[in-house]
Amino acid sequence: MWQFDKNVASSFDSHARQHIPNYDTVIDKSLDVCELYGKSAKIIDVGCAIGETLIRLHNRGFTNLHGVDNSQSMLDKCPHSIASLTCSETLPEGLYDVIIINWTLHFIKDKKKYLQNVFDKLNPNGVVIISDKTSLDPLAIGMYHDYKRAKGVSEEEIKQKQESIKNVMFIDDIEYYFSILKFTGFSKVHIIDSYWCFTTFVCIKR
Ligand SMILES: C[S@@+](CC[C@H](N)C(=O)[O-])C[C@H]1O[C@@H](n2cnc3c(N)ncnc32)[C@H](O)[C@@H]1O
Repeated sequence: MWQFDKNVASSFDSHARQHIPNYDTVIDKSLDVCELYGKSAKIIDVGCAIGETLIRLHNRGFTNLHGVDNSQSMLDKCPHSIASLTCSETLPEGLYDVIIINWTLHFIKDKKKYLQNVFDKLNPNGVVIISDKTSLDPLAIGMYHDYKRAKGVSEEEIKQKQESIKNVMFIDDIEYYFSILKFTGFSKVHIIDSYWCFTTFVCIKR
C-alpha cells in the first residue's frame, strides 16, 4: 500500500517530476495566483510534502506561510524556518487568503467535508487552488503512463504504483469537482491546467 514514508520522502523531489505531469508549471501557476493577494497574504499549502511550493513562495518574497501534511516523514524534509508547519490530516485553525491543495485532495476520502472546511476558513474573496487526478479512463491512463515512460519510469514501477494506490487514492471526475465546488459555495471555478488524468482548479469565494 502506498505511503508517504521516509523512503518516499527521500526521493520525492525526483519522484514528483516523474509521476506528476506539469509539476513545475502548476506550482508556478499557483504562485502567480498567490501574487494577486500580495506578499503578506496568508497562504497555507495542504499536503505541503517536502516544501517545494513553500520554498518557492518564500523565494518570491511571501512572508505569511503555513504548511500542513499528515506525514511527519515528509515534514521532516520541509524547511521549518520559512513557514509554520503542522502535522495533521485536517486543516489548521485560522482564516486564509489562499489555500493550495496540489495533488493531495485525492488522498482524502471525504472531499466534500474537507472542502466545506476549506470554504469556511477562506477570507471573503479568498481562493483555493486544487490539483488532482480526475480520470481513470483507460485511454487517459494509457497516455499518462506514456508520460511516465518518457520520464524513465520502468514498466515494473508503473505497475507497482498502480497497484499500491488502489484504496489509497480516491478518484472522481471533473464533473464531480464542479458539482461539489458549486455546492460548497464557490462562486467561480476556473481550470488553469490540465493533462491526461490531471486537472488544476482555481475556486474563488465571493
Ligand atoms: C503528492 S504529495 C503532494 C505534493 C505537494 N503538494 C507538492 O506540491 O510537492 C501528497 C501529500 O499529501 C499528504 N497528505 C495526504 N493526506 C493528507 C491529509 N489528509 N492532510 C494533509 N496532508 C495529507 C501526504 O503525506 C503527501 O505529502
